[in-house]
Amino acid sequence: MLNNLKIPSRTHEIIFPAFRQASVRVFIKREDEIHRAISGNKWRKLKYNLEAIKAANQNGFITFGGAFSNHIAAAAYAGYLAKMQMVGVIRGEDVDDKNQTLAFARKCGMQLHFVSRSEYAQKNTADFLQKICAQHSGLAVVPEGGANILGVKGCTEIWDEDDNEIDMVACPIGTATTFSGLVLSVPKNVALMGFTALKGGNYLRDDVHNFVQQAINGKLVPSTFSPPLWELEVNNHFGGFGKVKPELIGFMNDFYDKTGVPLDPVYTAKMMFGLAEKANNGAFKKGTRILAIHTGGLQGIKGMNKRLKNKNYKIEYEKIIADTFSFTGN
Ligand SMILES: Cc1ncc(COP(=O)(O)O)c(C=O)c1O
Repeated sequence: MLNNLKIPSRTHEIIFPAFRQASVRVFIKREDEIHRAISGNKWRKLKYNLEAIKAANQNGFITFGGAFSNHIAAAAYAGYLAKMQMVGVIRGEDVDDKNQTLAFARKCGMQLHFVSRSEYAQKNTADFLQKICAQHSGLAVVPEGGANILGVKGCTEIWDEDDNEIDMVACPIGTATTFSGLVLSVPKNVALMGFTALKGGNYLRDDVHNFVQQAINGKLVPSTFSPPLWELEVNNHFGGFGKVKPELIGFMNDFYDKTGVPLDPVYTAKMMFGLAEKANNGAFKKGTRILAIHTGGLQGIKGMNKRLKNKNYKIEYEKIIADTFSFTGN
């Protein structure tokens, strides 16, 4: 259903001092360019979820996210295109309910339902789901961030057989859905490194194992499947999910100036900062070829700059992503 919209994501080399000095080559897969609104891993994670909703003749979906959620923005636009009914359960009753992300979701036809943070924490429990589904009958549940096995299935399609001669793939992690898709699809001789965007991300190792097991159980991969080597870098979160420091924003601006690649502050910047730091620390053998996945998230830059308005630093390239929210209806 989303297939006819997809723009192939190009891969190009990035030339950046930390990598050049360490004699490593870093390539970036521009999943952010797949679609202006259904960008990056969102397109991947929604593809099979929406197909399943249509196949089951359901009218649409209920999904979940924070006030600046990349997932809410992308799901709203995808649902609008698919002519689906949509309900977005939003974390926090105290949020600016007119911010760009939420205004965009509303324009796409998503009905927003604000719940307290403590209620939101219950969102995956049977009680909560029963209640919300009873209020909106005929709608499927798509978990926050598209984090289910259908999302993982979509993310197995990120790896492209043309991405050969790569030694390592780097990917940002929130729920580990995207990373698990890569674990299931990247060849055995390619190592994987995930950079967690949140604090205390050790539990995500179990989540990756669980997704791999679900993929085996669901015959997405053969029962003999054995994953490539993978590891998580859990200390690169800059204080926690959605938190930034001047050093990170400075890095993003410098990276954009030198490479022309806009990173988002929540996920991809933390991954790229971590990769550059590792290169500076001599963590990679000379000649290593690394493929970094740009998972999108650029729609969140405006919101982050708003949050930074009383600081003396901001993301300088906000203007280049300005049209993410222009609603043209196609
Ligand atoms: C831009 C971006 N990158 C990376 C991630 C992390 O992906 P995942 O939740 O699949 O680990 C997200 C969240 O879905 C995201 O919005």
